[in-house]
Amino acid sequence: MNKAQRDMIFSQATKWIYEAGEQIRQQIHNPLTIDTKSNANDLVTEMDRSTEAFLANNIKSTFTDHFILSEEGYGDQLDSMNGIVWIIDPIDGTMNFVHQKRNFAISIGIFNNGIGEIGLIYNVMEDVLYSAKRGEGAYKNNKKLPQLHRDILFEEAIVSMNHFWLCENRLVDEKWMQKLVKDVRGSRTYGSAALEFAFVAEGIIDSYLTLSLSPWDYAAGMVIISEVGGVTTTIDGDTLDMLSKTSVASGNPLIQEKIIANYIKKARK
Ligand code: IPD
Ligand code: CA
Ligand code: CA
Ligand code: CA
Repeated sequence: MNKAQRDMIFSQATKWIYEAGEQIRQQIHNPLTIDTKSNANDLVTEMDRSTEAFLANNIKSTFTDHFILSEEGYGDQLDSMNGIVWIIDPIDGTMNFVHQKRNFAISIGIFNNGIGEIGLIYNVMEDVLYSAKRGEGAYKNNKKLPQLHRDILFEEAIVSMNHFWLCENRLVDEKWMQKLVKDVRGSRTYGSAALEFAFVAEGIIDSYLTLSLSPWDYAAGMVIISEVGGVTTTIDGDTLDMLSKTSVASGNPLIQEKIIANYIKKARK
């Protein structure tokens, strides 16, 4: 993908993400239809579906040869990352959306033949857009984000992870993860993977660890984080497969290296 093509797709995607956000803000106090998916706490609303439909319809009518990988069923069934693929989470943090009416984001990652070209994470209620184009740095609204610090101390790091890491689980021995939480300066849980990636890119948290995410949760985030010198891998340090669910570790490379070597590798089942 050349720069002109990337710029053109970026400006379309940005326009649509702002429009989708505006629609959500206008309807934020309307009564919600809330359904559940895999379990009673796996929520989905009419707003998740209508936002995805809005984005998918615009993409399909403007870019007839692009593909869509998305959460709520308006995308394509893909078995490869060939071509231009929009990876979309219409509302990331649906539980926050339902319970808090804030702390959720629209996430769009755009890949060309498997290479991340564009990342957009829109914190809808705060009206803050995190964005990146490959090779051109990352931005919070119009402000360029600095590269992540190279000299950060492990004991001063803030790690974002949810509580499943600290309960008995099938991937890691929770004792090591409890040690990690004690060894670093602090831990946080925000309830929106996309925002957690954005906060890593902003440098306000140093690592984000998750036992299981889908491509639409991390696609945009990994593009944005890579533009500030951060890394995104599985919790074993391997490359992510953009077509399936996976564990994810992302953040400052120095902190990530230590977390994987000194905690996760020892904890791994
Ligand atoms: C979820 C959120 C949450 C993460 C879950 C995701 P959704 O996305 O990002 O923080 O822990 O794994 O599924 O369902 O609200 O789009
Ligand atoms: Ca969901
Ligand atoms: Ca999500
Ligand atoms: Ca979602």
